[in-house]
Amino acid sequence: MVRQHVNPLSSFHQLPRALPPPAELFTAAELPLHLDIGCARGRFLLALARQDPGRNHLGVEIRRPLVQAAEADRQAEGLTNLRYLFCNATINLQHWLGALPTGRLALVSIQFPDPWFKQKHRKRQVLQPPLLAAIAGALASGHELFLQSDVLGAIEPMVALVEASGCFERPEGDARPWRSDNPLPLPTERETYVLDRGLPVYRVLYRRNAAPAPLSQLEPEANGGGS
Ligand SMILES: C[S@@+](CC[C@H](N)C(=O)[O-])C[C@H]1O[C@@H](n2cnc3c(N)ncnc32)[C@H](O)[C@@H]1O
Repeated sequence: MVRQHVNPLSSFHQLPRALPPPAELFTAAELPLHLDIGCARGRFLLALARQDPGRNHLGVEIRRPLVQAAEADRQAEGLTNLRYLFCNATINLQHWLGALPTGRLALVSIQFPDPWFKQKHRKRQVLQPPLLAAIAGALASGHELFLQSDVLGAIEPMVALVEASGCFERPEGDARPWRSDNPLPLPTERETYVLDRGLPVYRVLYRRNAAPAPLSQLEPEANGGGS
C-alpha cells in the first residue's frame, strides 16, 4: 500500500541522505538537467524524457514505493536520460544542488505539491527557505523555476517566498497573477485530473535573474511543529 500523504517532518524523513551526482545517474551527464520535485509515480517525467532526449530529467519523491515503480518503468524502456530518486526534497537536495557544475541545472519544476492547509503544518510544505536558497544558488541566470497547483493555498506561499528572495523574475509578457498556459509540453498526472474536471490551475514561470542571491533573506524561521 502506498500512503497518500507522508509527514516530511517525521524523524525518518529528516535523516541525511546522500544523493548520487549526475555522473552516476545519467549516461550523458553533461546534458542540461531538469529537476522535478515531488514526481509521484513519474509517468509525466517518463513521457517527457522520451520526448526530450536533449535533457536529463531527475524526479525526486518522498514515497519510496512510487520511486521503485517509476524506476522499473524507466529500466524497462532503457531510458538513460531519466532517473528517479527517493528523498525528502526539503532536506536532502540542498547539498546535491550545491555540488552541481555551474550552469548544469536548466529547469526546476514543482507541480501540484501536497497542500497543507493548517498553519501549524506549514513546515510540511516542500518549498521551504533553505531549499529555495539552494535552487537559487544552483540555477544560472536565465534558467527556470516552474510552479503550478490547483490549490491557491499551496501555490501562494511558494510565490511569496520566491518573490521575497529577489532572485527570480517572471518573463516579460506573462499574464499575472497566473500564467495562462503550461510552458512544459506535457501535463502531469494531477494536472490531467484537474483539467478533466474543468478546475483552474495556477501557474507561474520564473527565470533566475543576474543578481547575486541574497541568501540571508532565505534563512529558515525557527522550526515550528514537527508532527
Ligand atoms: C499531489 S502529488 C503531485 C505529483 C505530480 N507532481 C503531479 O503533478 O502529478 C505531490 C507529490 O509530492 C510528493 N512530496 C511531498 N513532499 C515531498 C518532499 N518533501 N520530498 C519529495 N516529494 C514530496 C508527494 O509524495 C506526492 O507524490
